[in-house]
Amino acid sequence: MHSKDIRQSFLKFFKTKGHEFIRSSSVVPIDDPTLLFTNAGMNQFKPIFLDEIKANDSRAVNSQKCIRVSGKHNDLEEVGVDTFHHTFFEMLGNWSFGDYYKKEAIEWAWQLLTEDWMLDKNRLWATVYVEDEEAFRLWTEITDIDPSRVVKCGKKDNFWEMGETGPCGPCSEIHYFIGENIEDQQPSGVNVSDQYWELWNLVFIQNNRLADGSLEELPAKHVDTGAGLERIAAVLQNKNSNYDTDLFSPIIEALENIAGSSYAMEPIPHRVIADHIRMLCFSIADGALPSNEGRGYVLRRILRRAARFGRKLGLEEPFLFRLVDDVSTIMGEVYPEVIDKKIHIQKVIQSEEESFNHTLDRGLDHFEKIISNLDEKNQITGADAFKLYDTFGFPIDLTKLLSRERKMTVDEDGFNNLMAEQRSKAKNTKKFNQDPEKFDWTHVSKGDDSEFVGYVSTHFSGARIRRYAKNDGYLLLVLDKTPFYAESGGQVGDQGTIKLGSIELSVLDVQKNNNTHIHFCNGELEEFHGEVECNVDVVRRLSVMKNHTATHLMHKALKDILGTHVNQAGSLVHPDYLRFDLTHFEKISNDEIKSVENMVNEKILMNFVVDSTVETYDDAKNSGAEALFGEKYGNEVRVITVGDYSKELCGGTHVKRTGDIGSFKITDESSLSSGVRRLIAVTGHSSLDQMQRNATVINHIQSVLNIPVDEMVNRIKTLLKEKKDLEKKLKVRNKSSNVDLDLTDEINQIGKYQSVVIRKDVATLDELKSIGDYIQKKLSSGIVAIFSKGEEKPMAVVSISKDLNEKGLFAGPIAKAIGSYMGGGGGGKPHMATAGGKNNESINSSIELTKKLIFESLNRKINAV
Ligand code: SER
Repeated sequence: MHSKDIRQSFLKFFKTKGHEFIRSSSVVPIDDPTLLFTNAGMNQFKPIFLDEIKANDSRAVNSQKCIRVSGKHNDLEEVGVDTFHHTFFEMLGNWSFGDYYKKEAIEWAWQLLTEDWMLDKNRLWATVYVEDEEAFRLWTEITDIDPSRVVKCGKKDNFWEMGETGPCGPCSEIHYFIGENIEDQQPSGVNVSDQYWELWNLVFIQNNRLADGSLEELPAKHVDTGAGLERIAAVLQNKNSNYDTDLFSPIIEALENIAGSSYAMEPIPHRVIADHIRMLCFSIADGALPSNEGRGYVLRRILRRAARFGRKLGLEEPFLFRLVDDVSTIMGEVYPEVIDKKIHIQKVIQSEEESFNHTLDRGLDHFEKIISNLDEKNQITGADAFKLYDTFGFPIDLTKLLSRERKMTVDEDGFNNLMAEQRSKAKNTKKFNQDPEKFDWTHVSKGDDSEFVGYVSTHFSGARIRRYAKNDGYLLLVLDKTPFYAESGGQVGDQGTIKLGSIELSVLDVQKNNNTHIHFCNGELEEFHGEVECNVDVVRRLSVMKNHTATHLMHKALKDILGTHVNQAGSLVHPDYLRFDLTHFEKISNDEIKSVENMVNEKILMNFVVDSTVETYDDAKNSGAEALFGEKYGNEVRVITVGDYSKELCGGTHVKRTGDIGSFKITDESSLSSGVRRLIAVTGHSSLDQMQRNATVINHIQSVLNIPVDEMVNRIKTLLKEKKDLEKKLKVRNKSSNVDLDLTDEINQIGKYQSVVIRKDVATLDELKSIGDYIQKKLSSGIVAIFSKGEEKPMAVVSISKDLNEKGLFAGPIAKAIGSYMGGGGGGKPHMATAGGKNNESINSSIELTKKLIFESLNRKINAV
């Protein structure tokens, strides 16, 4: 039976039992901060189980894309080592939301397995939770399973929990014995030996695990079942390995072709790669991207693991991206996203592979070096593991994997300590280097503090001081109410003044500590009990508001133009500019930047109303508001809506209408890290300043070139080309002018040595040097001195053959003497030195003196022998 037909027959079976088909949810859960990836079919139904929302239908059936690489359900270490665990797999499930319960769940599972799929009842086993007598009884009463094949198991195997918290309950699993000899089966083998595969899990959801570890009863009882498609396919296709089914074998064959390798000879690397590429394709298709944090880091770890197994097959170049096609072909009909996003997936994987390839080999070499120096403990230190991570990009699980292969261990605690240290160093760049609650506060008045009134007005009189402290040269103030925005959500803190009677304090910054706004002021405060007047620097705040609303417009425009994979990875809203980091795997082209600018400016010109409302988180999300991944939101959220274009959860301050932004210009695009780009942009006056600055530069260039603006680029290109050509010509001329030199009459023989002392007027000292070199090469052994007049002052070069250097004759002192003949100085290296003078007139007399000096020097050497 083909895997497509298996999936289909499961869905059909339950449709005939009144179940509604529900599409698989994304493998990247957007709304559940407790999960990095969808790890079970029930994730999307969690709010139904918890009675937070009502189900449309009380029975559902689906085939869910799942990833298990982190958190409670993490199969990574088994993947590839065995033949039936995966990072990515499909879970077939039937669901009852407060409708049927254990009886039907058990009965239908048995019916589908033994009647429709005709699995051998003598290979099937059922397990039940040891305390669940009802399930045990049902198995033996309503199915024809041999009662000796129903096994009671403990909490570890038969009480299913989604994560540390959430819906859970006792479960009943169905296992299949894959061993050759049917006689070899034992109840004690179930859940122990890898000859027994868990095919299907029937969970009877009746509890909710709370954060304190306790269990609460749910208002209704539900059924959550999960059957692994890959394992069922293996069993129905008579294979002993999931990798031999039609879900994997085309990928493995493609890999063998790329690597020229053999699956039979090296099964583990082939399995790991075939598994990991599916995980990468599906997570990237659903919007995840490799990065250094959270979910993105899981992708990076998986990809690096696969790349390293590629090395085992001799693959030195990026290869994973070439398997994307195969995954799309196998899975695209059921999950069209892997076809729609194919090019994007390929590009992301290839670029990530390329960047890791740079360090992988060096890292592997370094690993070898580390292990060659290990003592008898055979443990890699935390510091070495950290170096592999920090310098060579080796995730800790890659280091662990390499170590395990060599029967070594890794000091993980040591590694984690160093990681924590690095993180805390990064955090310490924050404003407070100690807990502000520990400052020496003077309390002035009692009551709630820091009610923010600055959305409505930038001026507020009648505020009261709650407390103040002196720290690090600042006067820190906390007020009952304040119009000053405290730095948060990327928007900088406000500046301005606070007046207390006749005293005026400058507010330089406002920071938040929990919900308290701490005003950083310049000035002193003796006791003060009256009311204060707050004035935010309006011009600065208006610039900030322009940049904040423009940030929302740009965020949406980037998604529209580059694709929905774009996510905000960081943001700074400053009065002078806005900075925005986004997940995107390649340089944003000039044309794309232009399109984003056009789109944002179009929305500015439409002068949309910018509206802010307070809604419940769920309402906001349901209405399509953008929430940032990794941000924590309370039940009530502030939503900023810009016309019908953008909707984002945001606590920041914004302009009233988009027209207030004036104009928008991106000024810089760069790479922040692999898969993350950084954009800088300006609005309002800053964008005008930017344009004026550019115009000034252009005008300046134009006035120098004296041609119309449109012709400037071509002219500059021509000038640069002419410059290059001339430089080339000059080089050629210098060479040929050397060749032209006729030295016949210029060489003086002094014993076995030769000397040349001539004048050759050239433009530069370099030319003179090159002539010196040229002549020196012609002489077997001797001294060359060449003179040239300069624009104002004369110059000379002296060159001496090596054998004379060895005899103690050096160019430096001769050049020095020549310099003195010309009224200047000289010096240089033993074989080549230069001299400069004051007056071109002195050249001829200097030449005569130099000839004499060289003659005497060489003669001395001859006589000395
Ligand atoms: N939630 C259960 C599991 O993941 C059954 O679907 O195994």
